[in-house]
Amino acid sequence: MIRTLVTVDTPLLHERFPSHDPDAPFFRHVPLGDRPTPVARLAPGLADGPADVWVKDESVFGDLWGGNKIRKLEWIIADAQARRSPTILTFGALGTNHGLATARFAQAHGVRVALALVDQPVDDHVRAQLARLEASGATIHRTRTKRRTYLLAPWLILRHGRFAGGRFRPAYVLPTGGSSPVGMLGYVECGLEIAAQVRAGDLPEPSHVVLPVGSGGTAAGLALGLRLAGLRTRVTGVVVNDQLPLDAAHITAMANKTARLLRKRTGDLRIAGLCPEDVTMTRDWLGAGYGHPTPEADRIIEDSRAAGGPDLEPVYTAKALAAVRALNNRGDLGNGTVLYLHTYGPR
Ligand SMILES: Cc1ncc(COP(=O)(O)O)c(C=O)c1O
Repeated sequence: MIRTLVTVDTPLLHERFPSHDPDAPFFRHVPLGDRPTPVARLAPGLADGPADVWVKDESVFGDLWGGNKIRKLEWIIADAQARRSPTILTFGALGTNHGLATARFAQAHGVRVALALVDQPVDDHVRAQLARLEASGATIHRTRTKRRTYLLAPWLILRHGRFAGGRFRPAYVLPTGGSSPVGMLGYVECGLEIAAQVRAGDLPEPSHVVLPVGSGGTAAGLALGLRLAGLRTRVTGVVVNDQLPLDAAHITAMANKTARLLRKRTGDLRIAGLCPEDVTMTRDWLGAGYGHPTPEADRIIEDSRAAGGPDLEPVYTAKALAAVRALNNRGDLGNGTVLYLHTYGPR
């Protein structure tokens, strides 16, 4: 793995949009992981084809639990602390990686966590994840369906609020996957980081970045960050969730909320939004739905284990890497450099 020191404590976003007052940056941030995450060529035999496939390994970002959630939490936890919110209330399915990461990192920073969880197919992976969630100290509400979650949300927001500083502070509501406009700053930051690695010669400028899409924030933030960094790299999202609208129009609308936030807080009107033609979203590797296994995903989990490739799980990363394999086998990713963003980080 190649590592170049881009920056240690200061996020690239703060360098790109400096505040007049260093003690009051436009966006607060708590550092939770070492940056940059490493880039390296993917092991041969996993996704061969005309394009040269590289991996950016997000699994090593964060010490309590790795993966893509941690970058979002760096901005979310700081935002919740700045608002003096007692508890982050967030949502997911029974095996939610996002819920676990939020529980571990927010509670380590003095912010309690409550989770409203809907059902998903239960296999060994989900059972083990649920046990970790129960051990995390978060308050768990098994709301079972999306509809019941919506109905219960107002009660949960009040139930997890608290009086502080002379006023009532309701729970900090964090959407599924941490994909709020503030959370997506984490992947704007990652886009800037990829550009810095390209400039440092750590990897050639990728024509595509391919990644799994569960709630959309990683793909949306990354597409915006790559654009802000001036790269021509195209985000190709492999949709693994059939419960949310995750087409190109929705992903770019999400990115544009973060672009608006950046414009508002920095006053920089040159920050442009994205249009749906700027990203590709595919549902071809989803299978029967969120959390349902596919033969292509099962096969690449085994192949990656045998080849010493990334440690894949069946819900997100195996479907995304299976897509890279098929697309590159067919020559659909061109003959340049393709970056697979490895978003899973078990500990
Ligand atoms: C391992 C992994 N990869 C990718 C994703 C999807 O990220 P996003 O929700 O930002 O689309 C998740 C979300 O939980 C995840 O756990």
